[in-house]
Amino acid sequence: MKIIKLKEIDSTHKLALRMIENNSAFECGIIADIQTNGVGRCERKWESAPGNLYSSIIKKIPPSVDICKISLATACAVHEAVENLIDSKEHLYLHWPNDIYYKNKKLSGILLAVVEDWIVISVGINIHSVSAPTAVSLDSIVGGFCVSAHQLFDSVLNKLSTWLNLLQIEGFFGIREYWLRNITGMNSEVTIRNGRDSLSGIIRGIDELGRLILECNGRKIYISSGDMFMNEKEIMVKYD
Ligand code: BTN
Repeated sequence: MKIIKLKEIDSTHKLALRMIENNSAFECGIIADIQTNGVGRCERKWESAPGNLYSSIIKKIPPSVDICKISLATACAVHEAVENLIDSKEHLYLHWPNDIYYKNKKLSGILLAVVEDWIVISVGINIHSVSAPTAVSLDSIVGGFCVSAHQLFDSVLNKLSTWLNLLQIEGFFGIREYWLRNITGMNSEVTIRNGRDSLSGIIRGIDELGRLILECNGRKIYISSGDMFMNEKEIMVKYD
């Protein structure tokens, strides 16, 4: 896959969307050393100091594959790429819908956009620095420099290609299994926010369609999008 390597850009995600808009898109990876206007999910800002991974992948949407499943497959790819670099693998989690957490802190975020028959898969990973106390960097986990953004992007691309092939050939089963092995908050109480709506319940897994299964007052509710917040008390019990 061709990789576009940039020193600085407003946002690799926005660049990918512009390429699609001006009909100049092709299947490629984009990586930038610095972003001046990085974006996260729900139109949040994504602080983008030098040293971390800022990347986007433009792909044609594979026939008859759900976007939700591509999102979960991407999280598996990032989780695996990072897992290879750290010793304390048992603390590395998939955090629904598609974040990677180390203990109770965010290590990586994924942002997806679909335009016509294109999908933009954007991945940010904190390698050297963080912009909030709720985030964690790879360097701080490993205790020193462990990987460059370019090396890590190569690894994410390789893993992603494997997971997407698996999804197309064998379906969602392996991805779901990987999620169930690595998900944070299983059987714990969480709150899911979606715009102004919020719903609290206990995580009971991921269903065959990639939706989060939340048990609320004894009923199972199936959720396909939103932001997940853990109950703070449970996090303290788990890690202190
Ligand atoms: C999130 O968790 O909110 C998603 C964060 C996605 C950040 C990446 S960094 C590379 C790409 N360019 C952006 O502006 N955002 C994504």
